[in-house]
Amino acid sequence: MATALQRALLRYYASNHRDLPWRRTRDPYRIWLSEVMLQQTRVATVVERYDDFLSRFPDVRTLAAAREEQVCEAWAGLGYYSRARNLHAAARRLVAEHSAQLPTTADALQILPGIGRYTAGAIASIAFGEAVPAVDGNVERVLSRLLAIDAEAGSTAAKRRLWGMAAQLAACDRPGEINQALMELGATICSPRTPSCGSCPLRRYCAARAEGDPLRYPRRSRRRVERPTLRLAFLWHRTRSGVWLERRPLRGLWAGLWQLPGEEGPSARARLSRRLGARLTRRIAGVRHELSHRIVLASIYAASPPPTLPHRATLRSFAEPLGAPLSAVARRAIIAARDAGA
Ligand code: ADE
Repeated sequence: MATALQRALLRYYASNHRDLPWRRTRDPYRIWLSEVMLQQTRVATVVERYDDFLSRFPDVRTLAAAREEQVCEAWAGLGYYSRARNLHAAARRLVAEHSAQLPTTADALQILPGIGRYTAGAIASIAFGEAVPAVDGNVERVLSRLLAIDAEAGSTAAKRRLWGMAAQLAACDRPGEINQALMELGATICSPRTPSCGSCPLRRYCAARAEGDPLRYPRRSRRRVERPTLRLAFLWHRTRSGVWLERRPLRGLWAGLWQLPGEEGPSARARLSRRLGARLTRRIAGVRHELSHRIVLASIYAASPPPTLPHRATLRSFAEPLGAPLSAVARRAIIAARDAGA
């Protein structure tokens, strides 16, 4: 028997949910793909890229048969390419060990690379109807306000209450709709800074609203951690065949992505100059880019005389560099250099 809160969520979802491509399917692969894309990318961007990816890789077997590089290419524009690599690795594992079928429970799904507690809960509830919770950033905000959770966001105590409440709500025969209703509320009505409490289907139950200050939740500590600065030096070198890019190592920051040939850290410019045997004479442009844990300051240089770059698998020219799998900083650096007329 559903509670009043569950009924309010189901009613809200039935008449208000957005018509999104992954909501028109019951195919677990397509739902899995949507959840992985949505982990770190906005809905509007995912909508633009989702069908294209699926037309290239319509099912688990096609994805598993592709080369990793092809999967990363199809991921262009979505960022955080480790997700594409994990998706590909998971598809290969499913083909090798699971007859290309996704496991149907959240516990079993979490064994796959790239599937954590949230994504496992989302897939299991939406695709397989398992009554399990799925708490992402949006759901965290909705439930922190609903319950006026005083524990600091991200703390063990807060997580225990959030997942506990989400599990109670999902305990019904339409867990996928309950979970998506919570996501939808967080994405539309219960926004971080300007929640529309007047039109919220949960307003009668919301403890934060009763207190009068929903923005107080989720509680964040005031301590602002200073983010360290990472300095990058990039070379802008265009020849008749295109712009030179180099591939980063497969481990570490921006693993396996392409960028302008570059060095990072102290004396990045001098080290880049030495490695390429080129004099980096002119600074063409700069980019400031914020990551969650550091601020990146990139300078883009031209060399004269033009360097002769060695042919290596990790260094080649791209006629359309923005089509390569790039880190966000590299993408912005290319655009900045072009804008500067280079
Ligand atoms: N964000 C994460 N999963 C989602 C979904 N299924 N629908 C809308 N937004 C989401």
